[in-house]
Amino acid sequence: MKSSRRLKNSIGENRLTHELTGADLPHIVVEPPGPHSRALAKELRAVESRNVTYVAPDWPVFLARGAGANLEDVDGNRYIDVSAAFAVAAVGHSNPRVVAAISGQAGILLHAMGDVHPSELKVALARELCALTPGDAEKRVLFGVSGADAVEAALKTAAVATERPGVICFEGAYHGLGYGALEVTDRDHFRRPFAGQLGGFSHRLPYPTVSNASESLASVERLLAGDQNQRIGALIVEPVQGRGGVREAPLDWLRSVRRLCSAYGAILIADEIYSGFGRTGRWFACDHAGIAPDLICVGKGMASGFPISACVGRADVMDRWPESDGEAIHTSTFLGHPTGCAAALASIAELRDRRLVERAASAETLVRELLEGLCRSKPVNVSGFRGRGLMWGVQCASAAVAANAVTGALRRGVIALPCGTKSDVIALSPPLVISDEQLRVAIGKLAESIA
Ligand SMILES: Cc1ncc(COP(=O)(O)O)c(C=O)c1O
Repeated sequence: MKSSRRLKNSIGENRLTHELTGADLPHIVVEPPGPHSRALAKELRAVESRNVTYVAPDWPVFLARGAGANLEDVDGNRYIDVSAAFAVAAVGHSNPRVVAAISGQAGILLHAMGDVHPSELKVALARELCALTPGDAEKRVLFGVSGADAVEAALKTAAVATERPGVICFEGAYHGLGYGALEVTDRDHFRRPFAGQLGGFSHRLPYPTVSNASESLASVERLLAGDQNQRIGALIVEPVQGRGGVREAPLDWLRSVRRLCSAYGAILIADEIYSGFGRTGRWFACDHAGIAPDLICVGKGMASGFPISACVGRADVMDRWPESDGEAIHTSTFLGHPTGCAAALASIAELRDRRLVERAASAETLVRELLEGLCRSKPVNVSGFRGRGLMWGVQCASAAVAANAVTGALRRGVIALPCGTKSDVIALSPPLVISDEQLRVAIGKLAESIA
């Protein structure tokens, strides 16, 4: 996990010369963002679309290297990353096994011809995903690059399989921002500028909670049973909403939805792009409910940092796609990218060999204890926390409290992000390799950062 490369900045000056072990504690040498980060932010603003990177006096830092649960910025500040960089670095930043797989594969065959002349690794990864994902049925895989790709592959599969375009989705959902994914993503912020260009095939219901579960099931059934004009073919749900604020669908609700979808011939799509690959202490969040969705979308932690995603589904559903006649109906240039497949296979092997899914489950007791302490010490600004495994949300009194906590944590050497439809939740989704000591220190510093 060690990284002791000498990094040079743009003028060739050696900066980061010490070792980064991955199990390090924060070390702040200059208040973040330091001078190099600030200079880069200024340069970036001149060349990048202004809507992308948020730039303020206290944000962002520019990252130079990572190892395990650590990130280091271009000014030499070392952080504990409790975000796993958007819940991606499941087996740790720049995990040596993943890096070796990527560089080994890149040296042999960097890119192949996804839907024409693929690499053999596509077979190996597809076989692995079919075996790992919930359900014993025979399965098939459709690869993509981003999470939104996987969601759009699932939406198209459901439309092809059922010939019914309507899709039930949920408030607070985040499924990505491509036009197909955006149609089922909730949040005006993302949708309003493009409302006139969205497909209009979604039917949005409140996200289920323990208190509204039976009402929610009745609404789902009404939509599935109802109006022929609506013609609902699928229901897409995050078993645990990630960006929506770490909200968990009740397990009984998931089981009932599974039954309803089967009864009405609708396709159940589980979006596990955030929650998959061990994050909740099981390989997939659906495993807690013991259900097998018809289609499951995976990405993020699947390859721990290389962009690759997949929609994995029951063969009888997937096989409603016609056999390719040489011109695939749904494909893309980088589909089944050999280097991405190598990264995913290495990341999955690492999860398995180092028992990191079990590690995420066993970390739950400590995180719970630490967050209980945090809540007790901040009764005004923090109202509670929720989560499982290594996927947690700390509910703040307001977006301002969460934003101040996150910038305060950065100054103290902890990288965390806000989430929730009102941005009033602090997300904790660290690499699964994070140590107990790093968890204690990071949550302690987060507590210090909450006013
Ligand atoms: C549950 C879920 N689905 C889909 C996506 C979209 O993934 P991407 O940003 O890779 O397109 C995300 C991203 O945060 C996600 O959390």
